[in-house]
Amino acid sequence: MIPELSNPSVFMRDPQRVEEIIKTMQMDSTSTIQVISDFDMTLTRFAYNGKRCPTSHNILDNSKLISEECKAQLKDLLNTYYPIEIDSKRTAEEKLPLMVEWWTKAHTLLVQQRIRKDLLQDVVKESDAMLREGYQLFFDHLQEHSIPLLIFSAGVGDVLEEVIRQAGVFHPNVKVFSNYMDFDETGALKAFKGELIHIYNKREGALLNTGHFQELKSRHNVLLLGDSLGDLTMADGVHSMENILKIGFLNDKVEERKTSYLNAYDIVLVKDETMEVPNAIMLHLTCTK
Ligand code: TMP
Ligand code: MG
Repeated sequence: MIPELSNPSVFMRDPQRVEEIIKTMQMDSTSTIQVISDFDMTLTRFAYNGKRCPTSHNILDNSKLISEECKAQLKDLLNTYYPIEIDSKRTAEEKLPLMVEWWTKAHTLLVQQRIRKDLLQDVVKESDAMLREGYQLFFDHLQEHSIPLLIFSAGVGDVLEEVIRQAGVFHPNVKVFSNYMDFDETGALKAFKGELIHIYNKREGALLNTGHFQELKSRHNVLLLGDSLGDLTMADGVHSMENILKIGFLNDKVEERKTSYLNAYDIVLVKDETMEVPNAIMLHLTCTK
């Protein structure tokens, strides 16, 4: 089997099932694989040297583009709603309206700041955002094998694209579905485009009428990466899916949430800030047969 699956950060409810899924996927051609991933706290680090790393929203919240008053308001929202997001005692149904409330309030505040498009690059450069260790191999290897990497994010698309671009791994096989900013003719933020994407409505079925959906039709083996239980629905709507391997990063409130993560994800990575395990699986799936 894959030696990295014995790493101390790896927990599995049913290791034998994981082995079977990997074996079945490995026998298929790489042209049948697609990777579906969340962005914030899945492709990016949760913490570095004991300090929390920012989400794509936090990159803006902590930046020079936001007034001190607005920063305080965004922080209040985070302090109110983040504990709800990760509360294992509340159901998704209970959380959904509250998450919509959080996103709506945060976006309204960001729009009021009339954020300038031309400054986003600097803001990302000056931020503490970091992709997980091993990200280069992850992105480059998928590109080399022409495996689509679909990123579904409830974060801010313009910001996360910039993080990937500055890391030098925004390859053509990467497709991002997220909340995008709409700028006026002076380059100031005036609204967010289209329907709001929050943590509970990210799914591939949303791409049904797009060209991407056609392109993905023959890719019935899915590797899913996420860090929240909301990320599990990202593969809903994948056309004739045959096999799915779900890898979940459990970054925070480990003891409280471990059981629910073990029941939902095939592989749970506890406080693992690296891409070591996803990379090992990916290398195994693409090795010459
Ligand atoms: P995602 O990783 O599932 O795409 O969700 C994005 C994360 O962004 C989620 O964990 C909550 C976080 N968030 C902020 O940090 N600040 C905000 O203002 C909002 C609306 C969300
Ligand atoms: Mg996330």
